[in-house]
Amino acid sequence: MIEKDLRSYLQKMEEAGELLRIRKEVDRVKEASALLKQSVGKGKALLFENLSDSSMPAVGNTMASRKWIVKALQCGEQSLASWFTARTSNGIPPVLLESSSVKEVVEDSVDLSKLPIFTFYEKDGGPYITGGIGIQKDPETGKQNAGYYSLQLMGKNRLGLHMLEQTHGFEIFQKREKLGLPTEMAIAIGLHPIEMLAAATHTPLDEFEVAGSLRGEALELVKCDGIDVDVPAHAEIILEGTILADEKEAEGPIGDWLGYYALVEDRHILRIDRITTRKDPIYQSVMAGSAEENLLISVPRETDVLNAAKKVSPAVTKVSMDPFLPICIIQINKTAEDEAMQVINTVLEDVPFINICITVDEDVDIYNMNDVLWAVVTRSHFEEDVSVVSDLLGFARDPFGVYKSKLAIDATYPLEHGQHFQRAKLLNTDLNLDDYLEPVINN
Ligand SMILES: Cc1cc2nc3c(=O)[nH]c(=O)nc-3n(C[C@H](O)[C@H](O)[C@H](O)COP(=O)(O)O)c2cc1C
Repeated sequence: MIEKDLRSYLQKMEEAGELLRIRKEVDRVKEASALLKQSVGKGKALLFENLSDSSMPAVGNTMASRKWIVKALQCGEQSLASWFTARTSNGIPPVLLESSSVKEVVEDSVDLSKLPIFTFYEKDGGPYITGGIGIQKDPETGKQNAGYYSLQLMGKNRLGLHMLEQTHGFEIFQKREKLGLPTEMAIAIGLHPIEMLAAATHTPLDEFEVAGSLRGEALELVKCDGIDVDVPAHAEIILEGTILADEKEAEGPIGDWLGYYALVEDRHILRIDRITTRKDPIYQSVMAGSAEENLLISVPRETDVLNAAKKVSPAVTKVSMDPFLPICIIQINKTAEDEAMQVINTVLEDVPFINICITVDEDVDIYNMNDVLWAVVTRSHFEEDVSVVSDLLGFARDPFGVYKSKLAIDATYPLEHGQHFQRAKLLNTDLNLDDYLEPVINN
């Protein structure tokens, strides 16, 4: 059975040796993010038990590898994108509990500085909540929307909020504003990976229906006390807030997922009026620009890629936007010479997040960039297989503009010359070198 909350998931990680703990004090402005970065290199999650200026423990990197996402979703070894796509095409509606553990402590006199909020990069404008999901209710449909917002700490009860215009979150905010309704938003922090992944989808469904579908059973929610929003019942921390209609403040800079700083601009303010938590809450952070953030954004977007690719060709077998989001790798067992390039062109047109799209054959490991580059340098006949496609919709904050040119690379081999592209294969790749070595005897 899939665990319901973050702490049970962390326990499972720890039992499997995948969670590191730091007991000594760590400075959350100057030290925490460098340590988080190193834990990704080790492929582990990291729990800080003793952070400066806060009595709350904090965890990061809970989904820094595809291996852990597959384990958390309990979806076996098959292609993650296909599994995710099949599960997220329909939702399972959530159920509402009367009460839950996230109401164990209720704090009306809000002081956000008690949370162990990290500052990530040298020039960041301040500490940012990054692992929380923002939840709003659509006033017309009554459905909820969840998405991530990087929230800058601006004061005891104030967070700087930037909602990109393409998000459903921004749509709902605008609808509520137009109708003169309070623009309420709850932030849920400390969630199981399933709720984290569901919130990262850009779907017309309620993201909590998606979470139910990924779980295979309805997600449990509980009502907020002061605002009309329902939140995950097993979260660690809930911030109940309202986006101030007439107030903006300079927010930023913040190191972003592309590895640059998003510049300072006047942004909305989310005023927090109540905090509810479990008795001993665990704060959760997602480091901007980390492997975890990349996976959170790319795994749901792989569904968009797969849907676009399958429109053109049933021969597509796997897709990946790992390890670096603007690049997309598509594995295809093509049956016609131009099939791969048709797939690339459709995907580049349909999925804005991609700058480079590469197709490879079935004998290439799409999760290994060295293998992909091997295919590019040995199987692409550049004059015919590489092209630049202009004026396609890109990422909203791209300095080159929202419409930009993108790169198409077909690295599948030409069918008519198949005999030249048979990959040299080793026998018995599962042998273990250690079994063959003699013990070294030191005199
Ligand atoms: C860690 C993280 C931080 C993010 N920060 C923001 C942000 O500050 N503003 C924003 O508009 N989108 C941000 N995003 C992207 C959105 O959450 C994402 O596009 C989501 O799918 C939007 O969902 P929606 O369109 O259903 O509202 C972030 C994503 C992640 C994973």
